[in-house]
Amino acid sequence: MEAVAAKSVIKVAALCGSLRKGSFNRGLLRSAIQLSKESVLNGMEIEYVDISPLPMLNTDLEVDGTFPPVVEAFRQKILQADSVLFASPEYNYSVTGPLKNAIDWASRPPNCWADKAAAIVSAGGSFGGGRAQYHLRQIGVYLDLHFINKPEFYLNAFTPPAKFDSDGNLIDPASKDRIKEVLLSLLAFTLRLQGETDLVQAKMAREAENSVIKVAAPSGSLRKASYNEGLIRAAMEQTKEFATGMEIEHIDISELPMQNVDLEGNEENFPSDVPEVSHQQLKLFGRKILEANSILFASPEHNYSVTAPIKNAIDWASRPPNVCADKAAAIISSSGGMGGARGRFHLRQIAKESLKDVLLALQAFTLRLKGCK
Ligand SMILES: Cc1cc2nc3c(=O)[nH]c(=O)nc-3n(C[C@H](O)[C@H](O)[C@H](O)COP(=O)(O)O)c2cc1C
Repeated sequence: MEAVAAKSVIKVAALCGSLRKGSFNRGLLRSAIQLSKESVLNGMEIEYVDISPLPMLNTDLEVDGTFPPVVEAFRQKILQADSVLFASPEYNYSVTGPLKNAIDWASRPPNCWADKAAAIVSAGGSFGGGRAQYHLRQIGVYLDLHFINKPEFYLNAFTPPAKFDSDGNLIDPASKDRIKEVLLSLLAFTLRLQGETDLVQAKMAREAENSVIKVAAPSGSLRKASYNEGLIRAAMEQTKEFATGMEIEHIDISELPMQNVDLEGNEENFPSDVPEVSHQQLKLFGRKILEANSILFASPEHNYSVTAPIKNAIDWASRPPNVCADKAAAIISSSGGMGGARGRFHLRQIAKESLKDVLLALQAFTLRLKGCK
């Protein structure tokens, strides 16, 4: 694989979830557009795309696969963009109706959002729109939008000193600096997803293409006959069949102590009152995650969330230096509720089919993050 000449310009579609004239969130986008004209960001062209003319989504308006002209024009803007910058106010702990409407229109087949890089900024009440950001990220999972994780930008618009003037223009220099960091991260991630690599990256990509992808696979269930651990075994079997070049290792997290910063040490030194077995388990676990190219989580759902053992393992791995950083990851799961032979048989059928897709996607995405086309 050869280095690719960098694209001359990265086109960013900028969408605001608020329709009001003096919107703080639209002010953030104006600031971003202004910043994109600075030299450090040249190569990025941000276009504000107005969502206010869109009709409320109603699939009756689609006729023989065509959309109303205003919707079609909007979809084209998204399709032509390399990435998307959302300024999303928080309405009732989520994204606004107008933004959801725009997202839904462009999601109609063929999904215009697919495979684009994206970033979110927000301004609002107490948490600065942070809760809407998490909802938007969640929506992005289904749309195949790849959001940058960091830096995060949310701004409490109502605490003094004033961050915006009376027209909704951002006047806070520190916030402008933070927006610039978001844009730099979005630019870098967009180029990375598009396979724009320099010579060093290209060399790494060549090496990655020719080596085995190591996948660390922890299961969130500790019970002996766990379905989720069974999914990992099935995945290991399947890599032999079709995802050759991928090596999955089940990572046992059952012996990790409960996270407690008092237990933390380093490779050589752990606090003297921490049992030796815990040292060994923590070192081994940290090393396995660090050495893996990607992570396959088999995560049952307990009370609408991940289980305590998997959260505990993630929390250990996240302690500095975060050994999970910049890895590709995928999640598979099965409900423990499918008891009985017929249920288990059915589960195995379902698992086999969807597992294949998950594993192939994980393989492709791991290689892509490493700069392989
Ligand atoms: C219907 C509605 C619901 C809202 N819900 C929230 C909320 O859940 N959390 C929050 O921080 N602010 C909430 N707000 C306040 C908005 O964050 C605030 O009005 C913000 O300035 C809107 O962004 P804009 O300035 O870009 O229009 C809500 C406002 C409206 C109109």
